[in-house]
Amino acid sequence: MDNKIKITDLNMVYTGLEDDDGSGLGVLSDVNLEVFDNEFVSLLGPSGCGKSTLLRLIAGLEQDYEGEILLCGDNPRNKRIPVCYMLQKDCLMPWRSMLSNVLLPIEIKKGDLKKAREEIKPLIHEFGLAGFENYRPRQLSGGMRQRAALLRTYLMDGEIMLLDEPFGSLDEITRMQMQDWLISVWEKHKKTVLFVTHDIDEAIYLSDRVLVMSDRPGTVNGAIQIDFERPRKRDMILTTRFSEYKKNILSLLS
Ligand SMILES: Nc1ncnc2c1ncn2[C@@H]1O[C@H](COP(=O)(O)OP(=O)(O)OP(=O)(O)O)[C@@H](O)[C@H]1O
Ligand SMILES: [Mg+2]
Repeated sequence: MDNKIKITDLNMVYTGLEDDDGSGLGVLSDVNLEVFDNEFVSLLGPSGCGKSTLLRLIAGLEQDYEGEILLCGDNPRNKRIPVCYMLQKDCLMPWRSMLSNVLLPIEIKKGDLKKAREEIKPLIHEFGLAGFENYRPRQLSGGMRQRAALLRTYLMDGEIMLLDEPFGSLDEITRMQMQDWLISVWEKHKKTVLFVTHDIDEAIYLSDRVLVMSDRPGTVNGAIQIDFERPRKRDMILTTRFSEYKKNILSLLS
């Protein structure tokens, strides 16, 4: 199986901070990981361990690191590899309608907006946003805002999708609905996904593999393969196998 993301001995230190004694803030330490084609991998770890920093590095928004990052087999320092990236906040522009927020990647690419508006209709429907095209973000529910941000991310170029706690701000019921919906969309369209979360159940429920990170400076402490069949069913949460996975993850976290 091809890998889409391959990270070898990655180290990252933030320097130039105000109360820095010269050593900087070590954020990532010897990170090694691989994500394979069409795999759904979750990255789980304590707050502040460097998950968002790792995603920013993969997305090319931070360049100052040691080690190697390969995307689709190429070094993004030498060749631009487009990735779909959703930040920890939904970052919808409040003055734009939902539809024009979603179509932003097409606008940035200077694509044909008229054509895109037609072509996107089935996706707007699939993402549960039909009828709300002209609403501003503040007029949407939290779940709808997240789905709009996800659809916008999905429309970016690239086979790799980086999602930074997309459901972190949602209540539990909405979060469960969003998980089910994300799985069904992913099973249909398949992209390679690296999904950051704090939530152990969410990581097991969604993923093919869960990578567990240590406290800062973050490193990958272990990987758990999740062998539940797909499509995933909610009641698998009640099985002994689920509890076993959870126990293994908890022991890697402690
Ligand atoms: N631009 C920056 N400059 C300096 N330090 C930073 C910067 N961004 C993040 N950090 C520091 O790097 C560490 C890791 O931050 P990061 O946002 O990657 O954590 P995280 O694992 O995503 O946490 P959370 O789960 O709370 O989102 C933190 O100590 C943070 O203060
Ligand atoms: Mg974060």
